[in-house]
Amino acid sequence: MLTQLCYASSRVEYENDLLEDLSDILATARAFNQVHDIYGVLYYAEGIYFQCLQGEQSQLEQLFTQISKDARHNQIHRFPDHAIEEIHFKQWSMKYVNQHGKITTLFKKMGLDKFLPHQLNDQQINQFLDLLLRMEESGHATKAKVGIKNRGYQNYF
Ligand SMILES: Cc1cc2nc3c(=O)[nH]c(=O)nc-3n(C[C@H](O)[C@H](O)[C@H](O)COP(=O)(O)O)c2cc1C
Repeated sequence: MLTQLCYASSRVEYENDLLEDLSDILATARAFNQVHDIYGVLYYAEGIYFQCLQGEQSQLEQLFTQISKDARHNQIHRFPDHAIEEIHFKQWSMKYVNQHGKITTLFKKMGLDKFLPHQLNDQQINQFLDLLLRMEESGHATKAKVGIKNRGYQNYF
């Protein structure tokens, strides 16, 4: 069954800085999700991650167990899962959207001064996801996997 699993969590500065964390998370997510037919979006702002995963329920459950154990975040709040008829983020094994004024505006309209996705209800999550779907993907630096010359960070796109 195709399912959508979304959660919000608080970032923990563990071993790396934010750029390194995002870069590593995206590299891992894109490699793993692609092989397991998992799609989705990651948004980060104000110390909070919001991620939505879409795919087969059993695959998502296994992945979420892994993600939940990750020391780079805590206070994970899982929203109710939903059965979906199609994958909306089909183009992205993990889309990354950078902090953006349009999202701040949407949250303000919803009566939230800060980026506090934990407080969103089902309908608001859908509005937020709609906006994330329509927004340009951020050309976030992603760690190169191989090659001495390519060590460090390079633009992913
Ligand atoms: C906010 C956040 C989102 C993540 N999203 C994914 C993801 O979509 N796919 C994935 O394979 N790993 C993702 N990870 C990484 C996993 O938590 C974990 O590092 C990965 O499954 C490898 O685990 P392992 O090193 O124990 O094998 C994410 C981590 C964080 C902190």
